[in-house]
Amino acid sequence: MDAADVSDDLVNVLFTEAQIQERIKGMAAEIERDYEGKELLIVGILRGAVMVMADMARSFHRHVEMDWMAVSSYGSGTKSSGVVRILKDLDTDISGRHVVIVDEIIDTGLTLSWLTSNLSSRNPASVEIATLLRKPEALQMPVDVKYVGWDIPNEFVVGYGLDYRERYRNLRDIGTLAPHVYS
Ligand code: PRP
Repeated sequence: MDAADVSDDLVNVLFTEAQIQERIKGMAAEIERDYEGKELLIVGILRGAVMVMADMARSFHRHVEMDWMAVSSYGSGTKSSGVVRILKDLDTDISGRHVVIVDEIIDTGLTLSWLTSNLSSRNPASVEIATLLRKPEALQMPVDVKYVGWDIPNEFVVGYGLDYRERYRNLRDIGTLAPHVYS
């Protein structure tokens, strides 16, 4: 689905498909340089990270192992509760492994902050974070992020894995959702 297919629902297109692909190639190149000569496991956080994982993995000119986790941030009703539950854990034993967690967005930082300390407790060789988007103004927990695609304003964005009520994930671009859709 293109932005043109849902143009009435978007205030603007923040990043086009071409811009996203180019940025992800750049992030993959950076990661590739940093992990030269080391085995690498990338961990995608379902469901939003599916697109960025698929494109990033294919941008590498080297082997990379992929695994997935699913977590729920909505412990007691609100996201800001900070309660994170593992819905699907890794299939991989990460002890001694170099791990890069891949996500499409860091909003409050609660999910990634919790995930980093959870994975760090499993004795990996290293754990870093790569996120396509980050909202600095929304941050509630400090998160040490090594690879960031773009910092964006604190607005409701959809597309490229990002949803509103499970819609727009399959939008190729990333756009700002029009208030009339969610109000
Ligand atoms: C998104 C995103 C991160 C999290 C970031 O997932 O993939 O995992 O929110 O938000 P935070 O920084 O405020 O914790 P979401 O919970 O929307 O689930 P989804 O990936 O299934 O859409």
